[in-house]
Amino acid sequence: MPGFELFSDLERKEVNDVLDNGVLMRYGFDGMRKGHWKAKELEAELRSTFQSDYVQLVSSGTAAVSIALASAGVGAGDEVIMPTFTFVASFEAIMMLGAIPVLVDIDDTLTLDPKAVEEAITAKTKAVMVVQMCGSMANMDALRTVCDKHNLIFVEDACQAIGGSYKGKPLGSIADLGCFSFDFVKTITCGEGGAVVTNNKDYYTNADHYSDHGHDHVGNDRGAETHPFLGYNFRISELNAAVGLAQVRRLPEFISIQKRNYTILREALSHIPEVTFRTVPDGGEESYAFLNFFLPDLESARKVSKAFKDNGIDACFHYYDNNWHYIRKWDHLTNLKSLYPISKEVKEGLQYLQTKSFEQSDHYIGRNISCLIKLSWTKEEVKTRANKMAQIIETIN
Ligand SMILES: Cc1ncc(COP(=O)(O)O)c(C=O)c1O
Repeated sequence: MPGFELFSDLERKEVNDVLDNGVLMRYGFDGMRKGHWKAKELEAELRSTFQSDYVQLVSSGTAAVSIALASAGVGAGDEVIMPTFTFVASFEAIMMLGAIPVLVDIDDTLTLDPKAVEEAITAKTKAVMVVQMCGSMANMDALRTVCDKHNLIFVEDACQAIGGSYKGKPLGSIADLGCFSFDFVKTITCGEGGAVVTNNKDYYTNADHYSDHGHDHVGNDRGAETHPFLGYNFRISELNAAVGLAQVRRLPEFISIQKRNYTILREALSHIPEVTFRTVPDGGEESYAFLNFFLPDLESARKVSKAFKDNGIDACFHYYDNNWHYIRKWDHLTNLKSLYPISKEVKEGLQYLQTKSFEQSDHYIGRNISCLIKLSWTKEEVKTRANKMAQIIETIN
């Protein structure tokens, strides 16, 4: 991660196909395209990658989350349970629909704690959204049990975990709806893009129409198509899809490079008594996009994070002090700083953030360091890096 590190002639060829016929839009213009339908081809590749019946490409991962929720009927006043550790996109996508994000603690998987989810369920809860952060996953069986028991929609944000799996199933294909991002820094990039994945035909049809102004996509005359319900424009372009098409075909190669680099780094840290690793649930296999480890306390995590930066170990994050991925720094959410008026329901629904603390999440995120695994490193570079990281941690602890 990220896939752009290994751009090649394969990506250039797909993009040139699009430029050669001049049709940058994914729908219509059948005569001009010379048979090129990059978005449709990418959707077919992704159906096979995710072993799922339906895939709808959209303009971003944030759009994918919003569309997934909308497709399942989540809207004004509904509560959606989500983790305290994720990207801001999670609550943005929920609030875009007038729904209420209900933040709950993570556990040592660095994803949703099933117990915390169950405790947060109210009469207004409509969906649970798990976020498979940093290449690994939650205890999906436990979350499925909670969702089934309370008749809740189960959404899986796998934007950071493409290529990982749980009990043999690709991450993103396990819940009722899965969401992916193909933005510039993801393992597979389209530049910008996203996807909704599901085995539910109704959800898929809703996602297909909703992401294109409500178009029913029947026939080949866009002007004559009907609009069964309201929609918006979250379309992906053919240029973006073309890049993703070349990239997704390289996913096995990318995952095996990530695994090699991850393993070298992990082995170098494994003998340090102060280092422990995140829990991967039974039957889970990470995508190896990040190596996540815990240090004994917040102070040593802060010291190690600073020493990594000072010594040229880039792309390692201490999310406790990061503005974008952890509740502690989301004051724009807690103080509801919005450009436009927010509904009374959402304002009241978010009141809990004024007083609620998340000690369990602080316990894990405060001690966690999350190191991005790059694709472009040589084996020698990773080994040098691994030794340097181990040395720094041992000196500080
Ligand atoms: C977990 C998660 N969800 C959603 C998104 C949003 O994706 P996008 O940038 O494509 O909107 C991201 C992006 O970083 C993410 O990490």
